[in-house]
Amino acid sequence: MNDPNGMVYFEGEYHLFYQYHPESTIWGPMHWGHAVSTDLVHWEQLPVALKPDHNGYIFSGSAVVDWNDTSGFFGGSPGLVAVFTHAKPQPGSEESLQSQSLAYSSDKGRTWTMFAGNPVITDERFADFRDPKVFWDKERSRWAMVLAAGDRILFYSSPDLKDWSYCSEFGLNEGAHMGVWECPDLFELPVEGGEGGGIRKWVLVVSIGADPDFPEGSRTQYFIGSYDGTVFVSDNPAETILWLDHGRDNYAGVSWSDIPAMDGRRLLIGWMSNWKYANQTPTDAWRGAMTIPRVLTLRSEAEGIRLIQAPIQEIRTLREPLVEMSDLLLSPGHNPLAHIHEGCLEIEVEFELLAATECGFSLKSGGEKRTVVAYHSGTETLYIDRSLSGITDFHETFACRHDARLIPKQGCVRMHLFIDHSSVEVFAGDGSVVMTDLLFPEPGSSGIELFAAGANVRIRTLRVFRLQSVWG
Ligand code: FRU
Repeated sequence: MNDPNGMVYFEGEYHLFYQYHPESTIWGPMHWGHAVSTDLVHWEQLPVALKPDHNGYIFSGSAVVDWNDTSGFFGGSPGLVAVFTHAKPQPGSEESLQSQSLAYSSDKGRTWTMFAGNPVITDERFADFRDPKVFWDKERSRWAMVLAAGDRILFYSSPDLKDWSYCSEFGLNEGAHMGVWECPDLFELPVEGGEGGGIRKWVLVVSIGADPDFPEGSRTQYFIGSYDGTVFVSDNPAETILWLDHGRDNYAGVSWSDIPAMDGRRLLIGWMSNWKYANQTPTDAWRGAMTIPRVLTLRSEAEGIRLIQAPIQEIRTLREPLVEMSDLLLSPGHNPLAHIHEGCLEIEVEFELLAATECGFSLKSGGEKRTVVAYHSGTETLYIDRSLSGITDFHETFACRHDARLIPKQGCVRMHLFIDHSSVEVFAGDGSVVMTDLLFPEPGSSGIELFAAGANVRIRTLRVFRLQSVWG
C-alpha cells in the first residue's frame, strides 16, 4: 500500500481506502484497497473498492458523504462519493494522463459504481494533476476541492460534485519545492492559547514527492492562512517551511471527512513510508503501513501558530501497564527498563534535564544495534538516530539521524512514544514536534534502555505500557 485515500466517517464506520497494488509488493497499477473500523484501532479488511478501468489506474483522492444528494446518484438519500485521479498510461511514455473522476456507493462503501460522465476535470497543461480532496463549504453551500498540479495547488468549487469551476491557485513561490506537490488537504481549525486564541485559521497540507537529490525523500509541509471559498492566502512569508513531521516516514497524510460535529476532531492518517525506499523495505508478503491516526489542533506558540498532533485517545484501549514511576533521579549508566523485552510499547515520560547533556531511549537494542530517540540539551533538539537500527542496507539513505528543535518548558521535556515491531512514532513537547520512522531491527534486538548522559536527569513521571495487537 501507499497513500491513505477517501477517509470518511459514515453510519458508524470509519472508512480507510488506500493506494494498493494487489499483484505485488512493488508499486504498479493502482487500485483502492479498503478497510473499515468502528474505533480507528481495529480494522476489518474489505474487498478492493476501485479497480482500474478504461480511464486508467486509480490514484489518490478523497470521499465525502453527499448528505443532500447534490449529485443525484442516490435518489434523494445520502450516499458516499469518491473523488479520485484516473491515471491513464500513455503509450511509449513513462507519464500518465491524469484527470479527476467520481465513483459512488449506496451500500456503505461495499460496492462502487463508476460515474458514466468520467472524467469530471481534465487539464492537459499539467502532467502532474492529481489527488483531489473535496469538502463541503458550508458558508457557500457548495463543494470545494484542492488538487495538486506539480508545483502548485489548484482550488475548485462545484454545486453537485460533477461540474467543477476553477477558482484559483496557490504555491508557485511558497514553501518547500523539493519535488512534485501531491496529496493536498484544506481545513479550518480554531487556534488555542496565546495571542491567536479565539480565532480560526485554515490549514493547507501539501506533500512533496522526492526529487532524487533531496536526501530526506518525500515529506509533508503545511501552510497556515485564510481561505474565502475561492482563494487561499498564507499568513507567513513565502520562504517559511512548516513540516508536519520531522521523521522520514509520514507521507501523503490527509484528514477524515464527515466526522460528526459532536466529535468535532480533525483526524489525520499518513502513509508510513518514503518514496526514497518504499519499494525496497525488507518486508515479506506485505509492504507499507499507515501511521497511528492523529488529532490535529492549532496552537499559538512563541514562533507563531503551529499544528499540534496527538495520538487518538482510542488507542489507549490497547494498553497493559508495565511500569509506573515518578520523581526518579536517573544517573548515567543505569537503566530502569532493563527487564523489559516487548515488541510493542507505549511510553509517556517527562524529563527534567538538570545538567545532563542527553536523555532518552535506546530502543530495539541488542549487541551493537539500537535506535536512539533522545533529547540533546546543548542544541535543544529531539532526535531519532536509526543508523544502527538493524537492517538498513536496502537503501543508502535509510541509516540516518534527524533532529528537530524542541524548546524545553520550565526545564522539562515530554515525550510520548509508540514503538511497534518496525516503527516508532514520537510525539514530543505536547505534540508540536512529531517524528515518525520505520525501523527494521533484527530478531534478537528486544532490549530497551532509558538513559541519561553527562549528568543526572530527573524523571518526573514515566509510564510504560505493553500494547496489545490490534489484530488479536
Ligand atoms: C503520492 C502519490 C500520489 C498519487 C499516488 C499514486 O504518494 O504519488 O500523488 O496519486 O501516490 O500511487
